Amino acid sequence: MLPMAKLDADRPEVLLRPLDEPRLAELLDAAVAGAEPDEVMPPVPGPPGWTAERRRAFLDFHRSRSIGTEQPVEETFVIYADGRAAGAARLEGTWAGVEAGLWVTRGQRGRGVGGAAVRRLRELAAERGHQRLIAATTPGNTAARRLLAAAGAHLVATDTSVQAVIEL
Ligand SMILES: CC(C)(COP(=O)(O)OP(=O)(O)OC[C@H]1O[C@@H](n2cnc3c(N)ncnc32)[C@H](O)[C@@H]1OP(=O)(O)O)[C@@H](O)C(=O)NCCC(=O)NCCS
Repeated sequence: MLPMAKLDADRPEVLLRPLDEPRLAELLDAAVAGAEPDEVMPPVPGPPGWTAERRRAFLDFHRSRSIGTEQPVEETFVIYADGRAAGAARLEGTWAGVEAGLWVTRGQRGRGVGGAAVRRLRELAAERGHQRLIAATTPGNTAARRLLAAAGAHLVATDTSVQAVIEL
């Protein structure tokens, strides 16, 4: 009993909150402080790092996909770990099922935050009436593969991609 109780006490409290403008500012700060641009948005040409252009692109990316448009393509959530923005999670409807995506800041990785976020995404997808949650990653992304497997995903790997399917 004791080791398990200690393990749970070490785990941060993880909550998903819908993205809005104030949370987008928090999310940008978290991304700049704790993630690489290419982990959190499509590539933007130019010198490496969080240039002013990439910060703008990050805001545009989220506004154009969810909170700043009348036709959002995804539902985006800020992941909070112990009350602080620690990443983002999303659900996007596709022909094959609702697609999950997420990233977690470097300082919070390996503490169960990603796993808890996927479990919550799973619940949210089921609440919205979806029957299948899908996700994609790369063969070298061990953390993502383990996280998806732990969430009950069936994984199909090729040389270049890993496709995950979770029946809800
Ligand atoms: C993938 C990612 C979201 C995982 O988040 P996380 O908070 O570190 O995940 P967890 O702490 O819940 O760990 C999930 C599993 O991965 C394992 N893991 C975590 N970091 C690992 C690492 N660096 N190497 C190998 N395994 C790792 C954990 O042990 C756990 O496995 P287990 O359940 O078998 O014990 C995070 O690494 C990330 O944001 N990476 C960059 C963006 C990305 O790759 N997104 C995923 C696209 S699908």
